[in-house]
Amino acid sequence: MSIRSVIVGCGAHLPAKIVTNDDLAKLVDTSDEWIQQRTGIKQRHIAADGELTSDLAIAASQKALERAGISGADLDLIVLATTTPDQTFPATAATVQAKLGMLGGAAFDVQAVCSGFIYALAIADNFIRVGQAKNALVIGAETFSRILDWTDRGTCVLFGDGAGAVVLKAEPASEEGVRRGILSTHLHSDGRHRDLLYVDGGVSSTKTVGHVRMNGKEVFRHAVQRLAEVVDESLTANGLTQADIDWLVPHQANRRIIDSTARKLSLSTDKVVVTVARHGNTSAASIPLALAEAVEDGRVRQGDLVLLEAMGGGLTWGAALVRW
Ligand code: UT7
Repeated sequence: MSIRSVIVGCGAHLPAKIVTNDDLAKLVDTSDEWIQQRTGIKQRHIAADGELTSDLAIAASQKALERAGISGADLDLIVLATTTPDQTFPATAATVQAKLGMLGGAAFDVQAVCSGFIYALAIADNFIRVGQAKNALVIGAETFSRILDWTDRGTCVLFGDGAGAVVLKAEPASEEGVRRGILSTHLHSDGRHRDLLYVDGGVSSTKTVGHVRMNGKEVFRHAVQRLAEVVDESLTANGLTQADIDWLVPHQANRRIIDSTARKLSLSTDKVVVTVARHGNTSAASIPLALAEAVEDGRVRQGDLVLLEAMGGGLTWGAALVRW
């Protein structure tokens, strides 16, 4: 009998502090009009001094566990996607594990920048499918504000901080086939384009944390093309068509990229979960933040087909199809 991963709980957490476009216009030569027109972003949440990626991750995870009706002690796997870990090591997942009271199993971090949540979800799903985990916590958590160059208007206006988490539970697939759960995941990367979006620091290279550097136009071009491809790939793999999709929950980098993917899928905008205006780009956290919101407010319902997709530094990109 085959095993499938079912999402049984979602949670999200945002830092209290909100920074508006007008606030940023006092720091760099920009305007609310430019930021909204080019990105759709109106504001972002920024972590307070001393508020760490693990703090955001733990708050989101506690909500996801509560919704799932299990405790940290019931978990046997944590996969945490982040580009902004608390420390170089141990993994931020280890801090989350300890604070959630999870005493066994395995906890580790995954680094795929803005595609991190899709990568983490795919890894946890595969652990469950082969029987190596039964209750997995998948987290996307970031304090991206810590690696921004607050004098670079081309990047500092784009990103925000936050965390989202989902609990996956192993369930036997029914005899007639999969009724619900993660249908498939699809991961890609192309390291030849690593210089399009990177941080100009690191333990081995410069011994500094560094700042985000991006060739926005080129990343935009790749994103539109690669996301269209991976969305097609995930539908084809499941014998499904665009018309079967109930909800698109995309990585929230830019409203124009999201609209382009929705147009390619002939999806009306009310079938797309969009949080970029309020959250900005929260990297690995953006998909689970958006998903938690749409589940909590009742938009995503049992039986719905939900498509998750993301593109980020590396370049990395991927998608997951989930029957709710
Ligand atoms: O999540 C990971 C993946 N990341 C992404 O998907 C990001 C993809 N890229 C983008 O979203 C867009 O490329 C940006 C939003 C970053 C930029 O939009 P764009 O339409 O590609 O603008 P641009 O970079 O070509 O810049 C156009 C102009 C430039 O001025 P000149 O050279 O035309 O005089 C920039 O200097 O806008 C200027 N500019 C700004 N002006 C006001 C750049 N940033 C700003 C700013 N405020 N914040």
